[in-house]
Amino acid sequence: MQNLKFSITDTAKAIEPAAVNDMLAEAREALHTVESGTGAGSDYTGWVSLPSQITQEQIDAINAAAAQLQNHCEIVVTVGIGGSYLGAKAVIEALADTFAPYRTDTGRTKILFAGQNIGQDYLFELSRLLRDKKFGIIVISKSGTTTEPAIAFRILRDQLEQQVGKEEAAKRIVAVTDPSHGALRTMAEKEGYTTFDIPGNVGGRFSVLTPVGLLPIAVAGYDIKALVDGARAMEQITASTEYATNPSLEYAATRNALYRAGKKIEILVNFNPKLHYFGEWWKQLYGESEGKDGKGIFPASVDFSTDLHSMGQWIQDGERTIFETVISVENPNHEMFIPTDDENLDGLNYIAGRPVDHVNKMAEIGTRIAHVDGNVPNLRITIPALQEEYLGQLIYFFEKACGISGYLLGVNPFNQPGVEGYKRNMFALLGKPGYEDKTAEIKAKI
Ligand code: PA5
Repeated sequence: MQNLKFSITDTAKAIEPAAVNDMLAEAREALHTVESGTGAGSDYTGWVSLPSQITQEQIDAINAAAAQLQNHCEIVVTVGIGGSYLGAKAVIEALADTFAPYRTDTGRTKILFAGQNIGQDYLFELSRLLRDKKFGIIVISKSGTTTEPAIAFRILRDQLEQQVGKEEAAKRIVAVTDPSHGALRTMAEKEGYTTFDIPGNVGGRFSVLTPVGLLPIAVAGYDIKALVDGARAMEQITASTEYATNPSLEYAATRNALYRAGKKIEILVNFNPKLHYFGEWWKQLYGESEGKDGKGIFPASVDFSTDLHSMGQWIQDGERTIFETVISVENPNHEMFIPTDDENLDGLNYIAGRPVDHVNKMAEIGTRIAHVDGNVPNLRITIPALQEEYLGQLIYFFEKACGISGYLLGVNPFNQPGVEGYKRNMFALLGKPGYEDKTAEIKAKI
């Protein structure tokens, strides 16, 4: 396995190289705080040593449950939101055939998602699709009480029980939740569902390397051992206290140096559409971890070259408060060349015979030069290919950097008090027991 590479050479116009070097002592202290579990929110730093602690027995148990679902179901619906959804979605999208949903010859169980929104039409259309299908459900919620997945699970469980009976339905439902608390744990035990635990010391957005992410990824047919191996390699690498050998340390320090220099928005860039949901996962990881106490880099993401035709103008010429972090994938998984055309009416013969990816790479280099010239500092992460081990490296690289970065920023990176606001208002408006006293106050603000 090769290792992920990280470069900050294109930040020089915005910050002096000394700015990052000057932060080394501070960054080392933040790294130590993460690793020793001595900082704010340290009850939720179980993810730090997760890759090295996952046992072969745990991997085997997840693969066995995945095989059981694969054998009984043509579709498995993964029900969850936020950290109980985005990691699996990101990895599956990065590895899967983009057009698998339209293919009948893959031989793989299809994974669909629900409970990540409250869209009535989304749920109706999903339910209609499943009407004549052999389907199963993985329901994921650490708290076991989150409204969006609870609604989706109630609807889908009801449908499954009607289609195959309560006893058979129970064999096709797997619950991933807190080891002892919450409504989902209670229900799973009562109904006899297979269950997997989410460790108490691992928060939602850091949970992709627990059964939260590993089970759906395994059902989708991917190698979770290789994913964990990649993360394990990065766990070792990111224990280093030197920038040169610890990319997470250098990334965390650089993005904070840029933030202190007025760069308030970080855009995660990919040049591979399969990484779209990796950007969504990353936004949750950094947004929920750092956006608090009136502070925090705003995490945004774009898919290039697609979004160069929509956001490119803003990035090139808009307010100079942004920097980019580009995930560069060295090698595509398939070959595809641009054909020669005798008539050359489209004028493309100058690149005929070249791989499509060559053009993509030139777009990537051209964009970097243009954006750096336009005063957009550019950080770059390079992985060899979209394969399990490299996605595992990338996941752990970002998680470790997030913990370090949160402490450099001076926040607790492991809580999310701000997400309760909308829930309180929604529950008061819905008349949830216990929220009646808030209803009048909220209604007065409508
Ligand atoms: O990172 C987090 O803690 C949140 O985004 C949660 O993952 C999300 O709200 C879902 O929570 P739960 O798994 O309890 O349903």
